[in-house]
Amino acid sequence: MTIERHVERPAARQVSHYVVQKKRRESLLDEWKRYHKTVIKRKDVAMHDVPSRRMRSGVYTGWHGDRPSINLDATLHEIPARTASTTIHRHSWDAIMFIESGAGWTEIDGQRIDWKPWDTLHLPSWAWHRHGNDGQGPAVYHTWSVQPMLEQFGVALLEDGGDTPVDQLPLRPRQVDPVAGEDPYARRTQRLAKQWEGTEAARLITRWDDVRGVVSPRGARSTFLVDKAIGYHTAGLSAVMHELAPGLYQSRHRHGGEALLYVISGDGYSEIDGARHDWETGDIIVVDHWAWHQHFNSSKERTARLVRIHNFDALYDMIRILLDPMDLFEELPELDAPDLTGVVWPDHNEGRPEA
Ligand SMILES: [Fe+2]
Ligand SMILES: [Fe+2]
Repeated sequence: MTIERHVERPAARQVSHYVVQKKRRESLLDEWKRYHKTVIKRKDVAMHDVPSRRMRSGVYTGWHGDRPSINLDATLHEIPARTASTTIHRHSWDAIMFIESGAGWTEIDGQRIDWKPWDTLHLPSWAWHRHGNDGQGPAVYHTWSVQPMLEQFGVALLEDGGDTPVDQLPLRPRQVDPVAGEDPYARRTQRLAKQWEGTEAARLITRWDDVRGVVSPRGARSTFLVDKAIGYHTAGLSAVMHELAPGLYQSRHRHGGEALLYVISGDGYSEIDGARHDWETGDIIVVDHWAWHQHFNSSKERTARLVRIHNFDALYDMIRILLDPMDLFEELPELDAPDLTGVVWPDHNEGRPEA
């Protein structure tokens, strides 16, 4: 007897694609509304031993903790004192690395870079990297990456190299060489090659000793840490340090998520959708949906230092183009920035931990 492999389903159980997709779309937003965050307290970030890497890590936000995100993740890392080297690995996503305290080094594709507190590094996609700490105390750093975004697109790939010397590991994947010609294939290779140009030689570190803050029209003193404007080649990631003047604030605005603000030092609060959310040193403020928001420094004496991270140059620009004519980045017609006359900004290094 022949077995029919194709079985017609009874007509009564069939539902239209419209009903299936509508249900899926509704439950998607319901699900993600449950993941909304405002302030993630440092004390709620549980540190774990990570034996396979010989270090310790804890998650502020991301699927690798219990706080799902779809665009950016934020992870805290600790390299114990006298760690000769962590294991080596690489991934398809890139990441920003900000040193909180301690001193150590990171080797990126065989190039060793020594770092100190408030230095910022870029870990390019597909670059082998490992870290070490020769010091007597732990070294603590943060990473902010686009791993969730790449996972969403189905292209998040992680390769572990264990203790294999870097010269025995495969090189970074190479972009195609441009093909001469005007045909569609040739034009595609030319475009891709152009986009990839300079990635291997791109900037890898911003040393805090080498930069200075500039007062912005939004009312903060700001410093680029990682951005394409200062020689980095990122997948859209950008980091800026903002310093809110004592007792003052930044002008109000709204945009979609996800944007993160890591509080290096200070106490303050953010108004998000009209509700007040207090924060302190070590916390991360999350703007993860389209909401009016504004950040305030509660201290009348000290500035508050925050690192703002987003990848608007990639994902958010794409969404803005796709959703035009909706305006997804709004400021007030007149910026409500504070009057900074008479503000005495502290020394560039105030509050910076000793290396
Ligand atoms: Fe990594
Ligand atoms: Fe914002």
